[in-house]
Amino acid sequence: MRMIAPSLLSANFKNLQADIDMINDSQADWLHLDVMDGVFVPNISFGFPVLEAVAGICRKPLDVHLMIVEPQKFIPEVKHLGAYMMNVHYEACTHLHRVISEIHKAGMKAGVTLNPHTPVALLEDIIQDLDLVLLMSVNPGFGGQTFIENTYQKIRTLKEMILRRGSQALIEIDGGVCLDNCQALYEAGADVLVSGSFIFKAEDPKAIIEKMKK
Ligand code: DX5
Ligand code: ZN
Repeated sequence: MRMIAPSLLSANFKNLQADIDMINDSQADWLHLDVMDGVFVPNISFGFPVLEAVAGICRKPLDVHLMIVEPQKFIPEVKHLGAYMMNVHYEACTHLHRVISEIHKAGMKAGVTLNPHTPVALLEDIIQDLDLVLLMSVNPGFGGQTFIENTYQKIRTLKEMILRRGSQALIEIDGGVCLDNCQALYEAGADVLVSGSFIFKAEDPKAIIEKMKK
């Protein structure tokens, strides 16, 4: 699968309507929403009041990436948005299996995100329960950072685990994704690429989204 999920973090916050109209009209598959709490990551982005407004005008499935401690507390809020995918960090969940079950019970797809230093092997006993694994290819917290090359190795290890365990999980990559690396990422086994600054800084974001899918 070759899917693109533009990240709202790099959109123009002075005119979100215009950027969401662009996403709605584009070939983007999902809209990626980065929620930060200033505790799990050293930055704060936007919260549920903003997300409610965005959800009201976005026609693409919402891919919610929670960079927060205790993400399980917010399952009802994320469900209320009508989110398609709820991503929680492995590093933020002591009882990950329980959190994944609760996301599923709420009727959403469940994704687990790994920071760049967290080994893929830690997912061995949960991979069959996941709909998606989000590999961070930068340290979470900011847009516009440089892609970490070790991500390719992690994609290959994860793909092998998914096939061996008969898991249906998709592989999503987040951070530093641009036209120079998206082909290699798909070839390594990625299914969904998140891209923020590269898409929103482009003169023609819709054309970039189209190119990234090819
Ligand atoms: C970073 C976020 C990303 C971010 C990616 O913590 O999780 O989704 O928006 O931005 P770029 O594509 O600019 O690296
Ligand atoms: Zn993200």
